[in-house]
Amino acid sequence: MNLIYCEDYAELSRKAASVVASQLILNPSSVLGLATGNTPIGCYAQLVEAVLNGDISFSEARTFNLDEYVGASREDEQSFGHFMDTHLFSKVDLNPENINLLDGRAKDIGQECLRYDEKLGFVQCGIDCQILGVGRNGHIGFNEPDDHFPLNTHIVDLEEGTIEAQRAYYAPGAVIPTQGITMGMRPIMGAKQVILLASGESKAAILEEALFGLVKPEIPASILRFHGNLTVIADRAALSVIIEKHPSVVL
Ligand code: PGA
Repeated sequence: MNLIYCEDYAELSRKAASVVASQLILNPSSVLGLATGNTPIGCYAQLVEAVLNGDISFSEARTFNLDEYVGASREDEQSFGHFMDTHLFSKVDLNPENINLLDGRAKDIGQECLRYDEKLGFVQCGIDCQILGVGRNGHIGFNEPDDHFPLNTHIVDLEEGTIEAQRAYYAPGAVIPTQGITMGMRPIMGAKQVILLASGESKAAILEEALFGLVKPEIPASILRFHGNLTVIADRAALSVIIEKHPSVVL
């Protein structure tokens, strides 16, 4: 595991974007696994700037997003598809045909999961670079704490804390989705490179548990310890418990 200390969120965003940018420079037709949430927003903003500067291009890249709410369509402001359009897709030169999103409005969600896995299966060498955030409960994508690590794309009942974390994005009284669809662990663990981003004190305890505790499905992110090419990019606040308990790893 490669642990990259950043002083703050701005540095984290620059460093994460630099990793993705070098991936695209070295292999313009890279397959990128993308995450939503607050954490990668700064990274995406940096990537947009790099495209505008002419330093990188997404024109040959393909993307797969991790997850979506059941019932959400790309047009819904709170959907992850809409998030990606807002923060990245509408601002870079990605070919729309190369964007892969889960359809939360699919009539048959089981079939939608199979379609996504099949699409991922067509990518011969898998995902080149998978960006991940981590939930306060240790989830990656919508892989919530469980009694096993689900391998394939699947439907999930979201934990109360996950639902609560979304409340900020919804109008008061609005119905917040309680289920999600998520890529499973197989494509994540099969990615050539995994970049786990964590920012802020609210992630400090779970980051330490995931990276230094037991590997167990109750802490989904802990599975990443078995990945051969994991890079964690985190800011000082997110690393605070690790710094306290395992100072030699960071300093
Ligand atoms: P956040 O979400 O980036 O908004 O903290 C991360 C996650 O829940 O995966």
